[in-house]
Amino acid sequence: MPLAYLEGLGGLLAAGLFIFGLKRMSSPVTALSGIKAAGAGMLIAVASAFLVLTRLPQVAESRLPTNLALAVIALALGGGWALWSGRKVAMTGMPQMVALYNGMGGGAAAAIAAAEIFRGAMPDTLLAGATLAGALIGSVSLTGSVIAWAKLDGKIDRPWRFAGQQYVNAAVFVAALVLGGATALASDGVQATMLAGAFFIVALAFGVLMTLPIGGADMPVVISLYNAFTGLAVALEGYALANPALMIAGMVVGSAGTLLTVLMAKAMNRSLTNVLFSNFGDVAVSTDSQIAGRIKSVEASDAATAMRYAASVIIVPGYGLAVAQAQQKLYEFVKQLQAAGVDVKFAMHPVAGRMPGHMNVLLAEAGVPYDIIFDMEDINDAFASTDVALVIGANDVVNPAARTDKSSPIYGMPILDVDRAHQVYVIKRGQGKGYAGVENLLFYADNCNMVYGDAQAVLTQMVQSVKELAPA
Ligand code: TAP
Repeated sequence: MPLAYLEGLGGLLAAGLFIFGLKRMSSPVTALSGIKAAGAGMLIAVASAFLVLTRLPQVAESRLPTNLALAVIALALGGGWALWSGRKVAMTGMPQMVALYNGMGGGAAAAIAAAEIFRGAMPDTLLAGATLAGALIGSVSLTGSVIAWAKLDGKIDRPWRFAGQQYVNAAVFVAALVLGGATALASDGVQATMLAGAFFIVALAFGVLMTLPIGGADMPVVISLYNAFTGLAVALEGYALANPALMIAGMVVGSAGTLLTVLMAKAMNRSLTNVLFSNFGDVAVSTDSQIAGRIKSVEASDAATAMRYAASVIIVPGYGLAVAQAQQKLYEFVKQLQAAGVDVKFAMHPVAGRMPGHMNVLLAEAGVPYDIIFDMEDINDAFASTDVALVIGANDVVNPAARTDKSSPIYGMPILDVDRAHQVYVIKRGQGKGYAGVENLLFYADNCNMVYGDAQAVLTQMVQSVKELAPA
């Protein structure tokens, strides 16, 4: 079979596996097999890229062994690093890792474009347009993702803003477009090389400038947006290289990233413009005018006893559960309650934690069965008839200010209605605010009690307390 057919077949197979994998990832029950299918698709796509390498007209036969060896070394280094970093990353470090991997994808697309541009391979306007658009989007995604990583990781801890910043950013963007156009039109090689160099510097700078002023609390959405950018850049470079696997993988990533960005913004009741041009989370906001009542605290043993003798308990996990790595202890407690005949359910907010599905992955790690985990819209009505709501390391996603306080930055964000349960217990270490930096009105409610301490330590005490109670 001619190589070109094999490549085409490889691309088709890879595309089929990507789509099949994505479909299976939509349910936690089938997600693992979906990831494996998509991974197999990626392997096939990489193998077919090797076939492409062997027939590129611009690669002289004598250069082929060197090029193949370089590609294998690059794969081993990249794959090895990904395997090592993926295994050792902490649950709380996932968003940063995703940001970096995503930036690499954008950078790879920009690098393909650079190779094509610098060797003068832009035979027609359409190809030149696709290559340069991919270069711009990939460069922005690379440097933007690195800034997002630095912000999430606390390496950059304050916003960088100045008067007229949006005009400066717009001017830099226009400069990138003009330099890109000039690169495509340049007639002599030296001139084109210099223009292309300037184009890449400005495009990379734009990614930095665009991301620096965005509020730190919005970085997860920004990462998802850059994920969509990376997909688009990869698809454009796939077109430039006539590589179907790249085109399809890029389009799948681009559309999945776009959908995810929209879903995340919707789950926070924010528009994309608001995410990109506001300083959400960087400015302390007071909801003092809404605060009524006082914060009360109880011992872990009191909370455990109340739940042990309750008929129904709904547990709301949040980012603090991942910080404390208390998922195993939590499940041990849940099993004790179930053994005592308590009906236990989990309620998932779509943006609990720091990335989509963060809490689902955490609970899956501990072996919590999927059939007791419910999405917000499926469980919210049940709080009113539930004896106890147990909030563990969650804050913003249960803050009633989102329903009542029009001046709150989280106003309008759909929340889990835990305040409607008969009794609420909140496990957290102290008076720390949530990600959005706002006061939580739930903590002042009459039916709410705080159980102060690290979630791991509190749950350990709760498990011990239930053990010491008389069996059911
Ligand atoms: P947060 O609002 O961040 O609250 C987490 C709470 O956990 C904190 O108040 C903290 O209080 C507590 N905590 C931290 N470490 C702890 C530990 N070791 N033990 C016990 N408690 C601990 O979390 P959330 O309710 O999950 O909300 C998620 C936030 O992230 C939302 O604002 C959401 O908009 C934002 N966000 C999420 C996403 C996605 S996709 N997930 C995307 C963008 C933005 P103490 O310091 O007092 O312990």
